[in-house]
Amino acid sequence: MKNNVITARIPEVFAPLLTSCCRIKLYYGGRGGGKSYAFADSLLIKGRMSKLLIACLREVQDSIKDSVYRLLCERISFYHLIDYDIQENKIINRITGSEFIFKGLRDTDIQKIKSLEGVDIAWIEEGQSISQKSWDILAPTIRKDGSEIWISMNRENENDPLWVMLAAHPDERTFVAKVNYYDNPFCPEELKLQAEKCQRERPDDYLHIWLGQPRKSSSAQLICPAMVRRAFEPKNILSVSPLIIGLDIARFGDDRTVFCLRQGRVCHKFITLTHYDTVSIADYCQSLIRDYKPTRVFLDSGGIGAGVYDILVSRGLRRTVRAVNFGSRAIADDRYYNRRAEMWDNAREWLASDLEVQLPQDEDLLKELCSVNKSYDNKGRLLLENKDEIKKRLGCSPDLADAFVLTFAEPVCEQSPPPAVCSIEKLFSDNTDTGKW
Ligand SMILES: Nc1ncnc2c1ncn2[C@@H]1O[C@H](COP(=O)(O)OP(=O)(O)OP(=O)(O)O)[C@@H](O)[C@H]1O
Ligand SMILES: [Mg+2]
Repeated sequence: MKNNVITARIPEVFAPLLTSCCRIKLYYGGRGGGKSYAFADSLLIKGRMSKLLIACLREVQDSIKDSVYRLLCERISFYHLIDYDIQENKIINRITGSEFIFKGLRDTDIQKIKSLEGVDIAWIEEGQSISQKSWDILAPTIRKDGSEIWISMNRENENDPLWVMLAAHPDERTFVAKVNYYDNPFCPEELKLQAEKCQRERPDDYLHIWLGQPRKSSSAQLICPAMVRRAFEPKNILSVSPLIIGLDIARFGDDRTVFCLRQGRVCHKFITLTHYDTVSIADYCQSLIRDYKPTRVFLDSGGIGAGVYDILVSRGLRRTVRAVNFGSRAIADDRYYNRRAEMWDNAREWLASDLEVQLPQDEDLLKELCSVNKSYDNKGRLLLENKDEIKKRLGCSPDLADAFVLTFAEPVCEQSPPPAVCSIEKLFSDNTDTGKW
């Protein structure tokens, strides 16, 4: 098979891969742009022209199956490139001696990275996932004169490290090009149909998934005021869902402890205690459990929360009370940076739901709920702004909002008969607590 037959199948927009002598060639865009195929075909051509060491890299590679090894094998087979010898962990060109190797950067120790010093071309696939640390080790390792780094990426957010360092302000040795599915003459009809459906039904996602735009910037609010105001409007919802209490306990310097009582689509009320010590908070919580029989109480185990939890457990309330560590690993670890991001996002979904939801009207609650900015980590997981930043802006800690989001710590199934309606009425009419409402 002649190389010009392969070249003829590489879309025009990728011609600089073979012609430009820039050190860095970065292609970005949405799904189906033809990046992976064009990179694979171009490298197979280069590997037939002279002896090259080509490293196919990504941030994480648990097995060679995660890499572009399979795609390269498919392209070799498609073009009947019998000069390529496919081995277990590498691909070799029998005539030129070119070699393709495959590595994950994150788990490769520095010694092994050093073995990349002789690399002629490094192909970084999924460039949006490369951490700053990996890049800082890799860039000076690819040091051979005339060596090149090819990067294919679908941007995740504004702050993807490779985007910021290389593409946002490219220097004269960096070539950057955007390519989307409509630039790919080989894009399957099926992919085009999926893209069009997404454009019609989820325009924001379309921009990200198919046009390669980053997800909204880190300054985006997680919860917008319109959602909260909609939940403030008085409605007549009679819920028989399990009653859940979220308990945000005063941390050392802060002095507000907040209970939030939510039952399905109705958040009934908030109770705020000030200057209560561990035992008094536990006493109060125990009285709420006795009076309202919640299915679950989720309490923040940070600060003095762990002490309150221990007291409640020692009083035989282990079945009802759960300690939640905001900084711990999320249940959906692939979507959320930590538990805090997961709970807040569950609360956002509740507020954004098509069904009616009810929140007690309170401007402080609105301010707190809308105070949190979101971003994404380099794995594309939702990450929330640091609490200290929020405190600075708000002038206080978002305790009401934290108590509310705690009621979304995990799904709760009914274990005992649902609370009687009278207990809901009691919740509304009971003015005996020291609460805010
Ligand atoms: N040269 C080619 N010959 C045949 N089909 C091709 C060619 N290039 C691309 N395609 C088709 O287009 C599809 C999308 O290409 P590719 O996977 O390279 O896109 P991508 O930009 O890497 O995007 P993604 O994020 O979806 O992987 C491929 O699955 C394949 O069906
Ligand atoms: Mg691809």
